[in-house]
Amino acid sequence: MCGIVGYVGEKKATPILINGLLKLEYRGYDSAGIAVIENNNIEVLKDKGRVCNLESIDGIDKLASTIGIAHTRWATHGKPSKENSHPHTDNSKTFAVVHNGIIENYNELRDFLISKGYTFYSQTDTETIPNLIHYYFSKDEINDNNRFLRAVRCACNDLKGSYAIEVISKLFPELCIVVRKDSPLVIGTGNKENYIASDIPAILSFTKNFYLLDDNEYTVITKDSISFYDNNLEKHNKAIKSIEWDASSAEKDGYDDYMLKEIFEQPNSIRETIGSRLKLDEKCDFEDLNFSKEYLSTINKIYIVACGTAMHAGLSGKTIIEKLCKIPVIVDIASEFRYRDPLIDNKTLCIYISQSGETADTIAALKLAKSKGAKTLAISNVIGSSITREADYSIYTHAGPEIAVASTKAYTSQIVLLAILAIYFAEILESSDKETLENLKSDILDLPTKIGIVLDNLEPIKDFAKSVYTQKDMFFLGRGTDYNVALEGSLKLKEISYIHSEAYAAGELKHGPIALIENGVTVIGIITDSSLVEKCISNIQEVITRGAKTLVISNQILPNNHFDYVIDIPSTSCLISPILSVIPLQLLSYYISKNKGLDVDKPRNLAKSVTVE
Ligand code: AGP
Repeated sequence: MCGIVGYVGEKKATPILINGLLKLEYRGYDSAGIAVIENNNIEVLKDKGRVCNLESIDGIDKLASTIGIAHTRWATHGKPSKENSHPHTDNSKTFAVVHNGIIENYNELRDFLISKGYTFYSQTDTETIPNLIHYYFSKDEINDNNRFLRAVRCACNDLKGSYAIEVISKLFPELCIVVRKDSPLVIGTGNKENYIASDIPAILSFTKNFYLLDDNEYTVITKDSISFYDNNLEKHNKAIKSIEWDASSAEKDGYDDYMLKEIFEQPNSIRETIGSRLKLDEKCDFEDLNFSKEYLSTINKIYIVACGTAMHAGLSGKTIIEKLCKIPVIVDIASEFRYRDPLIDNKTLCIYISQSGETADTIAALKLAKSKGAKTLAISNVIGSSITREADYSIYTHAGPEIAVASTKAYTSQIVLLAILAIYFAEILESSDKETLENLKSDILDLPTKIGIVLDNLEPIKDFAKSVYTQKDMFFLGRGTDYNVALEGSLKLKEISYIHSEAYAAGELKHGPIALIENGVTVIGIITDSSLVEKCISNIQEVITRGAKTLVISNQILPNNHFDYVIDIPSTSCLISPILSVIPLQLLSYYISKNKGLDVDKPRNLAKSVTVE
């Protein structure tokens, strides 16, 4: 979950490292630090707190080094403190390391190193790594140029768990060695300079040319060269990738917060997701998929597996796929799926959704399905991300970089992509009539304009946010696919406003939770399915009777309007209505958070990519 940056070149490294860390704070922000090689010594500057604190550390502006590594932390082992912040060094301060991931056997390694005379100053799992490197380096009797690389490889062979690490050494002041296992790491190339980062946006303003590292690929980086080695330290070549993202798409662009910017980007991100895949009067086409009728007809069930918001998008996908393709779909939480011993075989298609493509549980769940013989399909926003490299097939949302911790545009793009995928399957299977599919296509193509209409109606949402931001509890209700949106609205509220909330299938309320409804409690209803309007209104009526304050988001004619607030949204097929009905909920959480004076983009305890279990 932590952010990593590195630089080897001819410019002063410190400003580049700090600039990269600032762009990576969404990965973790409880402490930050850098290490550079200055006058043949390793200088480490670090502290707990935000990256901006680094700039006020004494002497940081005097560092002239042109090589360095940097880290912004989301604590796993050891509370946020200066000692536990990265970079970490070995006892002799010969090697400095930053690390993202978890070393599961760190206690064992620590005991081993203590038995060899090493001491530890932090509670982190990471501190074992520079000391292990030092241990193997000291034992190596061959004093050649590869001694540093051999020591890193030997140390990594002892590590269990996940890691992306950068290592520098005062004995080799011109190079940085990096390696990853189950944690993201990319290298960006420049002219007489090279960059390293856990995520592309950190260095997108410097380069568009990247190497996407594979697991256990040891990489030695100087300002003029990048050399890749396998686990036997055999050298190999690697293809470079050009990333089309625009550097400004990773900036705030005049918005107060990334989250607001990303909410407002949705008309465009949806256009990008649709791309050339869906056109009226033509069959849907995915460049990277070539499913046959023969194969699709053998599928006995589809699993959609993901975490958090991506899982909520999967719930909407289930409704669409079942309706159009008549294949049963099970949606599962990745952290549950991976330990459930799920019933899957070679007739099961498993779809994994992950904005970042780096979520540890989702990747592990994918590997499990593959080992059981299922076909796997990844949906991600990040080209070349780990999940897309593991899956049999990958398709991209193309929503552009999502920086805010709270996912917004990725969610709507994921649902759009699932809808197009469902139409693609249905056309091959001939499982739905042409008119149904053409109507849905037309509704999907109209989404960008309709999202624009929702985004133009900000005032009632701002008013409602002002009237409820001091509340301690809220409820979100919906039936059918509106219940899926209720779940997502409730998650958004919790994560950025710290208000406790629950989402319920509206009909379920009277089976218990209605006991919590009393005067003034806020209940938010979503009503977009014409076949369920009356049922849902009755359920909301039940809470009004008990004193609830209500907001309803709807594209239906509401016959009996007793609600305190109503937000009208444009009508569309109820299969894809979550894409419109979620937007007022995204905005509501945003404005509640602003009213409370919270940091919208960096909510407490959270990080954007959850790369640990
Ligand atoms: C969304 O607002 C959350 N921050 C979180 O639930 C997120 O969707 C989840 O961690 C999954 O991330 P992924 O899509 O990158 O796998």
